[in-house]
Amino acid sequence: MILPSYFNDMLTKIRPSQDLLDQCAEAHTELRETLINDSELQDIVVTTFLQGSYRRSTLIRPVNGSKPDVDVVLVTSLNPIVWTPAQVQERFCQVLSKYSRYRDNYRRQGRSIGLSLEKINLDLVITATPSKALRAILKSEAFGSASSVDAHPEWRIVKGPSFPTEEWKSEPLLIPDRDAGRWEQTDPISQIEWTHDKNRETNGHYVNVVKALKWWWTHESSGRKGLPKGYLIECLVGLHCPDGIESVAEGITLVLEGIRDTYINDVRRGKTPFIQDVGIPSNNVFQRVPPNCFQEFYVSVKACAEKARAAFDDPDEVSSVRGWIGIFGNVFPPPKNDSSSRTFQKPRKPAEPRKARFA
Ligand SMILES: Nc1ncnc2c1ncn2[C@@H]1O[C@H](COP(=O)(O)OP(=O)(O)OP(=O)(O)O)[C@@H](O)[C@H]1O
Ligand SMILES: [Mg+2]
Repeated sequence: MILPSYFNDMLTKIRPSQDLLDQCAEAHTELRETLINDSELQDIVVTTFLQGSYRRSTLIRPVNGSKPDVDVVLVTSLNPIVWTPAQVQERFCQVLSKYSRYRDNYRRQGRSIGLSLEKINLDLVITATPSKALRAILKSEAFGSASSVDAHPEWRIVKGPSFPTEEWKSEPLLIPDRDAGRWEQTDPISQIEWTHDKNRETNGHYVNVVKALKWWWTHESSGRKGLPKGYLIECLVGLHCPDGIESVAEGITLVLEGIRDTYINDVRRGKTPFIQDVGIPSNNVFQRVPPNCFQEFYVSVKACAEKARAAFDDPDEVSSVRGWIGIFGNVFPPPKNDSSSRTFQKPRKPAEPRKARFA
């Protein structure tokens, strides 16, 4: 069964609490304002914007005392031919050192500067200068105001009246590679836009399917280094979540089955598949996942796909709920009408015929 109210209850528990989201907003706003207003950076900072799971509404509630991470992009006007990524990061680290709240809390992470605050991690990615057209887009109010997919379901980058051109097509930004050795292309704007579109095409269920499966995998995974997580899981869900789904349960089931059926040959051949990045299609998002780690993930997905199909097809509420609990654990609510755990009660209304199951 699709059990929408059960899934809603579960999602309330796996979304970050409003209090935590408020703290995230406070932390990233303070950092962005600090850098934009810093006198040394006046001519360098073009704008800042949010990306990552926080921006795309795919962030899950932190588990086991971990902190949520908020990904912040800082767009500079620095020429990538003149400036190396390491030099740019060094310059920003020196600026961060001026502020007591950041001085002892930052560290270089190759691609980004990580700031570890009391309850939040901020990941600051610094870019080289983009084209004039892209700068205008990034600075436009319509781009910056869409702070999450959930809060702005109708957001589209090319349709807003305040954009400089209707024709504009997203283009890559340059960010440091993993070792800050050279500039590398990334396209977070396309990723954000794609997520908005996908969420609309899936009746608003897509980001919830992503969160549910990220949650499942966070608890199911052995946590071994090299296993796919975070954005990699989101990418796979995006590839395998059909448009038009009518429930989170349906999305979860079809995504798990899609992964199981698509990558069987890669696993048999001991390979990690090529998973295209929606931003830069020539990039393999799974490039750094060793084949044995992909296999571990695949084996879990395969087993979970069977459980999900059984729970989804199960016409009995109590046993279907138990099936979903078998996947998600206690974060999934217990059966509301479990006659085996209480004495018979007269039904308050006559039984209604069940809707046809998804075929
Ligand atoms: N392998 C990758 N290929 C392309 N883009 C990536 C890749 N890894 C990360 N990114 C981009 O950088 C962002 C921040 O990465 P991060 O590891 O924080 O993942 P996330 O999606 O924010 O998930 P999480 O909730 O685990 O933080 C991603 O959302 C994505 O836009
Ligand atoms: Mg993140």
